[in-house]
Amino acid sequence: MVDHMGKKQMVADLKEGDEVDSHFSISYRKYPRAYRDGHSFELRLQDSSGQINAVYWGGREQDQGAVQELYDSIKERDVVHVRGKVSIFRDALQIGIDPGRGHVVEKSAFSDLSCFVPTSPRDLDEMMRELDRAVEQIANADMRSLLQHFFADEGFRARFRVSPAAITHHCNRIGGLLEHTLNTHSICGFMAVRYSELDRDLLLTGALLHDIGKVREYVVTSGIDCTLEGRLVGHVVMGGQMVDEACGSIPGFPGITRLKLVHMVLSSHGKLECGSPKTPSFPEATVLAQADQMTATVEKHISLRAEACTRTQDDWTWDREYGGIFLR
Ligand SMILES: [Fe+2]
Ligand SMILES: [Fe+2]
Repeated sequence: MVDHMGKKQMVADLKEGDEVDSHFSISYRKYPRAYRDGHSFELRLQDSSGQINAVYWGGREQDQGAVQELYDSIKERDVVHVRGKVSIFRDALQIGIDPGRGHVVEKSAFSDLSCFVPTSPRDLDEMMRELDRAVEQIANADMRSLLQHFFADEGFRARFRVSPAAITHHCNRIGGLLEHTLNTHSICGFMAVRYSELDRDLLLTGALLHDIGKVREYVVTSGIDCTLEGRLVGHVVMGGQMVDEACGSIPGFPGITRLKLVHMVLSSHGKLECGSPKTPSFPEATVLAQADQMTATVEKHISLRAEACTRTQDDWTWDREYGGIFLR
Protein backbone atom coordinates (compact mmCIF):
# COMPACT_ATOMS: atom_id res chain seq x y z
CA MET A 1 0.00 0.00 0.00
CA VAL A 2 1.18 3.53 -0.78
CA ASP A 3 2.23 5.68 2.16
CA HIS A 4 -0.58 8.23 2.06
CA MET A 5 1.62 11.14 3.17
CA GLY A 6 4.16 10.12 0.52
CA LYS A 7 4.06 10.22 -3.25
CA LYS A 8 0.92 11.70 -4.74
CA GLN A 9 -1.06 9.53 -7.19
CA MET A 10 -2.21 11.84 -9.98
CA VAL A 11 -5.77 11.70 -11.39
CA ALA A 12 -4.49 11.56 -14.98
CA ASP A 13 -2.50 8.37 -14.24
CA LEU A 14 -5.39 6.40 -12.67
CA LYS A 15 -6.62 3.31 -14.53
CA GLU A 16 -9.45 0.82 -14.08
CA GLY A 17 -8.63 -1.57 -11.23
CA ASP A 18 -6.07 0.71 -9.54
CA GLU A 19 -6.01 0.88 -5.75
CA VAL A 20 -6.02 4.54 -4.73
CA ASP A 21 -4.35 5.81 -1.57
CA SER A 22 -3.67 9.49 -2.03
CA HIS A 23 -4.79 13.12 -1.64
CA PHE A 24 -7.21 15.15 -3.70
CA SER A 25 -9.03 18.45 -3.48
CA ILE A 26 -12.86 18.38 -3.41
CA SER A 27 -14.27 20.49 -6.24
CA TYR A 28 -17.88 19.73 -5.29
CA ARG A 29 -20.03 17.32 -3.25
CA LYS A 30 -23.45 15.85 -3.93
CA TYR A 31 -25.83 15.45 -1.02
CA PRO A 32 -26.18 11.89 0.41
CA ARG A 33 -28.96 9.72 -0.99
CA ALA A 34 -30.38 6.29 -0.35
CA TYR A 35 -29.39 3.25 -2.43
CA ARG A 36 -30.18 -0.46 -2.13
CA ASP A 37 -27.68 -1.21 0.69
CA GLY A 38 -27.80 2.08 2.60
CA HIS A 39 -26.72 5.65 1.94
CA SER A 40 -24.06 7.02 -0.41
CA PHE A 41 -22.67 10.35 -1.56
CA GLU A 42 -20.65 11.53 -4.52
CA LEU A 43 -17.56 13.73 -4.63
CA ARG A 44 -15.81 15.42 -7.55
CA LEU A 45 -12.11 15.16 -6.79
CA GLN A 46 -9.33 17.03 -8.51
CA ASP A 47 -5.62 17.62 -8.62
CA SER A 48 -3.40 19.55 -11.01
CA SER A 49 -3.69 16.77 -13.63
CA GLY A 50 -7.49 16.48 -13.83
CA GLN A 51 -10.77 15.55 -12.14
CA ILE A 52 -12.49 12.27 -11.25
CA ASN A 53 -15.76 11.29 -9.55
CA ALA A 54 -15.71 9.29 -6.33
CA VAL A 55 -18.62 7.57 -4.61
CA TYR A 56 -18.73 6.73 -0.92
CA TRP A 57 -20.87 3.64 -0.32
CA GLY A 58 -22.01 3.54 3.32
CA GLY A 59 -23.16 -0.09 3.12
CA ARG A 60 -25.41 -1.89 5.61
CA GLU A 61 -23.19 -1.21 8.65
CA GLN A 62 -23.50 2.59 8.46
CA ASP A 63 -26.84 4.26 9.09
CA GLN A 64 -28.00 7.48 7.43
CA GLY A 65 -26.70 9.59 10.36
CA ALA A 66 -23.18 8.16 10.13
CA VAL A 67 -22.96 8.79 6.38
CA GLN A 68 -24.36 12.30 6.85
CA GLU A 69 -21.82 12.99 9.62
CA LEU A 70 -18.93 11.96 7.37
CA TYR A 71 -20.36 14.06 4.51
CA ASP A 72 -20.63 17.09 6.82
CA SER A 73 -17.02 16.69 7.99
CA ILE A 74 -15.59 17.43 4.51
CA LYS A 75 -16.46 20.33 2.26
CA GLU A 76 -15.55 21.92 -1.07
CA ARG A 77 -11.85 22.85 -1.40
CA ASP A 78 -10.86 20.60 1.51
CA VAL A 79 -7.92 18.36 0.80
CA VAL A 80 -8.93 14.78 1.58
CA HIS A 81 -7.11 11.50 1.95
CA VAL A 82 -8.90 8.90 -0.14
CA ARG A 83 -8.43 5.15 -0.11
CA GLY A 84 -10.53 3.37 -2.71
CA LYS A 85 -10.59 1.48 -5.99
CA VAL A 86 -10.94 2.74 -9.57
CA SER A 87 -13.69 1.28 -11.75
CA ILE A 88 -15.52 2.33 -14.89
CA PHE A 89 -19.03 3.73 -14.63
CA ARG A 90 -20.87 5.03 -17.74
CA ASP A 91 -17.66 5.21 -19.79
CA ALA A 92 -15.81 7.27 -17.16
CA LEU A 93 -13.37 6.34 -14.42
CA GLN A 94 -14.68 6.56 -10.88
CA ILE A 95 -13.20 5.86 -7.45
CA GLY A 96 -15.38 3.61 -5.29
CA ILE A 97 -14.92 4.14 -1.54
CA ASP A 98 -16.23 1.12 0.36
CA PRO A 99 -15.56 1.23 4.12
CA GLY A 100 -16.30 -2.52 4.26
CA ARG A 101 -13.04 -3.02 2.33
CA GLY A 102 -11.00 -0.64 4.49
CA HIS A 103 -11.53 2.30 2.18
CA VAL A 104 -11.69 5.82 3.63
CA VAL A 105 -12.29 9.47 2.82
CA GLU A 106 -11.10 11.88 5.51
CA LYS A 107 -9.93 15.45 5.85
CA SER A 108 -6.18 15.64 5.44
CA ALA A 109 -3.36 17.90 6.60
CA PHE A 110 -1.53 17.40 3.30
CA SER A 111 -0.51 20.94 2.41
CA ASP A 112 1.39 20.97 -0.88
CA LEU A 113 -1.25 22.97 -2.77
CA SER A 114 0.84 22.99 -5.98
CA CYS A 115 -0.35 19.36 -6.40
CA PHE A 116 -3.92 20.54 -6.87
CA VAL A 117 -3.79 23.55 -9.19
CA PRO A 118 -1.82 23.34 -12.45
CA THR A 119 0.86 25.93 -13.22
CA SER A 120 1.58 27.47 -16.60
CA PRO A 121 4.01 25.47 -18.76
CA ARG A 122 5.87 28.76 -19.32
CA ASP A 123 8.33 30.06 -16.72
CA LEU A 124 6.61 32.75 -14.61
CA ASP A 125 9.73 34.91 -14.16
CA GLU A 126 10.50 34.81 -17.87
CA MET A 127 6.92 35.92 -18.60
CA MET A 128 7.26 38.79 -16.08
CA ARG A 129 10.42 39.94 -17.89
CA GLU A 130 8.51 39.87 -21.20
CA LEU A 131 5.79 41.97 -19.58
CA ASP A 132 8.36 44.49 -18.27
CA ARG A 133 9.87 44.82 -21.76
CA ALA A 134 6.40 45.43 -23.18
CA VAL A 135 5.87 48.26 -20.65
CA GLU A 136 9.27 49.83 -21.52
CA GLN A 137 8.32 49.84 -25.20
CA ILE A 138 5.36 52.17 -24.65
CA ALA A 139 6.60 55.55 -25.95
CA ASN A 140 3.75 57.68 -24.57
CA ALA A 141 4.86 58.86 -21.08
CA ASP A 142 1.32 59.02 -19.62
CA MET A 143 0.46 55.50 -20.68
CA ARG A 144 3.83 54.19 -19.50
CA SER A 145 3.19 55.81 -16.10
CA LEU A 146 -0.21 54.15 -15.99
CA LEU A 147 1.30 50.74 -16.70
CA GLN A 148 3.99 51.32 -14.07
CA HIS A 149 1.30 52.28 -11.58
CA PHE A 150 0.25 48.62 -11.74
CA PHE A 151 3.23 46.59 -12.88
CA ALA A 152 5.88 48.41 -10.78
CA ASP A 153 3.78 47.91 -7.62
CA GLU A 154 5.16 44.92 -5.69
CA GLY A 155 1.79 43.79 -4.31
CA PHE A 156 0.02 44.00 -7.67
CA ARG A 157 2.93 42.28 -9.46
CA ALA A 158 2.87 39.39 -7.04
CA ARG A 159 -0.87 38.85 -7.57
CA PHE A 160 -0.73 39.32 -11.34
CA ARG A 161 2.19 36.85 -11.63
CA VAL A 162 0.23 33.90 -10.22
CA SER A 163 -3.35 34.77 -11.16
CA PRO A 164 -5.25 32.27 -13.31
CA ALA A 165 -7.15 33.57 -16.34
CA ALA A 166 -10.23 31.43 -15.67
CA ILE A 167 -11.79 28.69 -13.52
CA THR A 168 -12.68 26.19 -16.24
CA HIS A 169 -11.93 27.86 -19.57
CA HIS A 170 -8.64 28.82 -21.20
CA CYS A 171 -5.50 29.37 -19.06
CA ASN A 172 -7.15 28.10 -15.85
CA ARG A 173 -3.81 27.67 -14.13
CA ILE A 174 -1.31 29.61 -12.02
CA GLY A 175 0.31 32.17 -14.36
CA GLY A 176 -2.59 31.80 -16.82
CA LEU A 177 -3.46 35.51 -16.72
CA LEU A 178 0.12 36.42 -17.56
CA GLU A 179 0.15 33.96 -20.48
CA HIS A 180 -3.18 35.23 -21.80
CA THR A 181 -2.15 38.89 -21.43
CA LEU A 182 1.13 38.35 -23.30
CA ASN A 183 -0.60 36.37 -26.06
CA THR A 184 -3.23 39.08 -26.51
CA HIS A 185 -0.51 41.74 -26.47
CA SER A 186 1.46 39.87 -29.18
CA ILE A 187 -1.52 39.71 -31.54
CA CYS A 188 -2.22 43.41 -30.96
CA GLY A 189 1.47 44.20 -31.62
CA PHE A 190 1.26 42.39 -34.96
CA MET A 191 -1.91 44.31 -35.88
CA ALA A 192 -0.26 47.63 -34.94
CA VAL A 193 2.56 46.86 -37.41
CA ARG A 194 0.12 45.91 -40.18
CA TYR A 195 -2.26 48.84 -39.66
CA SER A 196 -0.30 52.07 -39.28
CA GLU A 197 -3.61 53.90 -38.72
CA LEU A 198 -3.85 52.30 -35.26
CA ASP A 199 -2.55 54.13 -32.16
CA ARG A 200 0.05 51.53 -31.17
CA ASP A 201 0.60 52.77 -27.60
CA LEU A 202 -3.12 52.95 -26.89
CA LEU A 203 -3.72 49.47 -28.31
CA LEU A 204 -0.82 47.83 -26.45
CA THR A 205 -1.56 49.60 -23.16
CA GLY A 206 -5.17 48.41 -23.44
CA ALA A 207 -3.95 44.87 -24.17
CA LEU A 208 -1.72 44.78 -21.08
CA LEU A 209 -4.48 46.14 -18.82
CA HIS A 210 -7.61 44.55 -20.28
CA ASP A 211 -7.90 41.69 -17.75
CA ILE A 212 -6.27 43.20 -14.63
CA GLY A 213 -9.63 42.87 -12.84
CA LYS A 214 -8.92 39.13 -12.72
CA VAL A 215 -6.43 39.61 -9.87
CA ARG A 216 -9.52 40.47 -7.80
CA GLU A 217 -11.85 37.99 -9.48
CA TYR A 218 -10.04 34.74 -8.70
CA VAL A 219 -8.59 33.20 -5.58
CA VAL A 220 -6.35 30.12 -5.59
CA THR A 221 -6.41 27.65 -2.71
CA SER A 222 -6.59 23.91 -3.42
CA GLY A 223 -8.55 24.91 -6.52
CA ILE A 224 -9.49 28.07 -8.40
CA ASP A 225 -12.53 29.94 -7.11
CA CYS A 226 -14.31 33.20 -7.77
CA THR A 227 -14.27 35.91 -5.09
CA LEU A 228 -17.53 37.50 -3.98
CA GLU A 229 -16.75 40.75 -5.86
CA GLY A 230 -15.76 38.63 -8.85
CA ARG A 231 -19.19 37.00 -8.83
CA LEU A 232 -21.16 40.17 -8.14
CA VAL A 233 -19.19 42.68 -10.27
CA GLY A 234 -16.80 40.72 -12.53
CA HIS A 235 -13.33 41.45 -13.89
CA VAL A 236 -14.48 43.55 -16.87
CA VAL A 237 -16.15 46.19 -14.71
CA MET A 238 -13.60 45.90 -11.86
CA GLY A 239 -10.76 46.29 -14.40
CA GLY A 240 -12.45 49.38 -15.88
CA GLN A 241 -12.74 50.88 -12.39
CA MET A 242 -9.09 50.08 -11.58
CA VAL A 243 -7.87 51.73 -14.80
CA ASP A 244 -10.12 54.77 -14.23
CA GLU A 245 -8.89 55.25 -10.64
CA ALA A 246 -5.24 54.81 -11.64
CA CYS A 247 -5.55 57.40 -14.45
CA GLY A 248 -7.11 59.79 -11.93
CA SER A 249 -4.12 59.39 -9.60
CA ILE A 250 -1.60 60.41 -12.30
CA PRO A 251 -1.31 64.23 -12.46
CA GLY A 252 -2.18 65.62 -15.90
CA PHE A 253 -3.31 62.27 -17.36
CA PRO A 254 -5.26 63.22 -20.54
CA GLY A 255 -9.03 62.85 -20.08
CA ILE A 256 -9.65 61.43 -23.55
CA THR A 257 -6.96 58.73 -23.15
CA ARG A 258 -8.46 57.84 -19.76
CA LEU A 259 -11.90 57.37 -21.29
CA LYS A 260 -10.55 55.41 -24.26
CA LEU A 261 -8.62 53.00 -22.02
CA VAL A 262 -11.60 52.48 -19.72
CA HIS A 263 -13.74 51.83 -22.79
CA MET A 264 -11.21 49.30 -24.12
CA VAL A 265 -11.35 47.32 -20.87
CA LEU A 266 -15.16 47.49 -20.72
CA SER A 267 -15.57 46.41 -24.36
CA SER A 268 -12.83 43.74 -24.31
CA HIS A 269 -15.38 40.87 -24.39
CA GLY A 270 -16.71 42.28 -27.65
CA LYS A 271 -20.42 41.65 -27.16
CA LEU A 272 -22.99 42.51 -24.51
CA GLU A 273 -23.96 38.84 -24.21
CA CYS A 274 -20.31 37.94 -23.51
CA GLY A 275 -20.16 40.22 -20.46
CA SER A 276 -19.07 43.54 -21.95
CA PRO A 277 -21.22 46.50 -20.88
CA LYS A 278 -20.14 48.34 -24.06
CA THR A 279 -19.31 47.09 -27.55
CA PRO A 280 -16.03 48.34 -29.14
CA SER A 281 -16.46 51.90 -30.46
CA PHE A 282 -13.12 52.59 -32.18
CA PRO A 283 -10.52 50.52 -34.06
CA GLU A 284 -8.08 49.91 -31.17
CA ALA A 285 -10.96 48.63 -29.00
CA THR A 286 -12.12 46.34 -31.83
CA VAL A 287 -8.65 44.89 -32.35
CA LEU A 288 -8.30 44.23 -28.62
CA ALA A 289 -11.69 42.50 -28.37
CA GLN A 290 -10.91 40.35 -31.44
CA ALA A 291 -7.43 39.47 -30.14
CA ASP A 292 -8.92 38.48 -26.78
CA GLN A 293 -11.51 36.30 -28.50
CA MET A 294 -8.89 34.74 -30.76
CA THR A 295 -6.52 33.66 -27.97
CA ALA A 296 -9.40 32.26 -25.95
CA THR A 297 -10.81 30.27 -28.90
CA VAL A 298 -7.46 28.88 -30.05
CA GLU A 299 -6.50 27.84 -26.51
CA LYS A 300 -9.87 26.18 -25.98
CA HIS A 301 -9.51 24.20 -29.23
CA ILE A 302 -5.99 23.10 -28.27
CA SER A 303 -7.10 21.93 -24.82
CA LEU A 304 -10.27 20.21 -26.15
CA ARG A 305 -8.16 18.21 -28.60
CA ALA A 306 -5.52 17.34 -25.98
CA GLU A 307 -8.13 16.25 -23.41
CA ALA A 308 -10.15 14.20 -25.90
CA CYS A 309 -7.03 12.41 -27.18
CA THR A 310 -6.36 11.05 -23.67
CA ARG A 311 -9.77 9.32 -23.48
CA THR A 312 -10.69 8.30 -27.03
CA GLN A 313 -9.18 6.76 -30.15
CA ASP A 314 -11.96 8.28 -32.28
CA ASP A 315 -11.30 10.83 -35.02
CA TRP A 316 -13.87 13.29 -33.64
CA THR A 317 -15.17 14.56 -30.33
CA TRP A 318 -18.13 16.84 -29.65
CA ASP A 319 -18.16 19.98 -27.54
CA ARG A 320 -21.41 21.72 -26.60
CA GLU A 321 -19.94 25.18 -27.31
CA TYR A 322 -17.52 24.49 -30.16
CA GLY A 323 -19.26 21.64 -32.01
CA GLY A 324 -17.28 18.88 -33.76
CA ILE A 325 -13.56 18.77 -32.94
CA PHE A 326 -11.30 16.83 -35.32
CA LEU A 327 -8.66 14.91 -33.37
CA ARG A 328 -6.17 13.79 -36.05
FE1 LIG B 1 -11.74 39.28 -19.89
FE1 LIG C 1 -8.83 38.59 -21.95
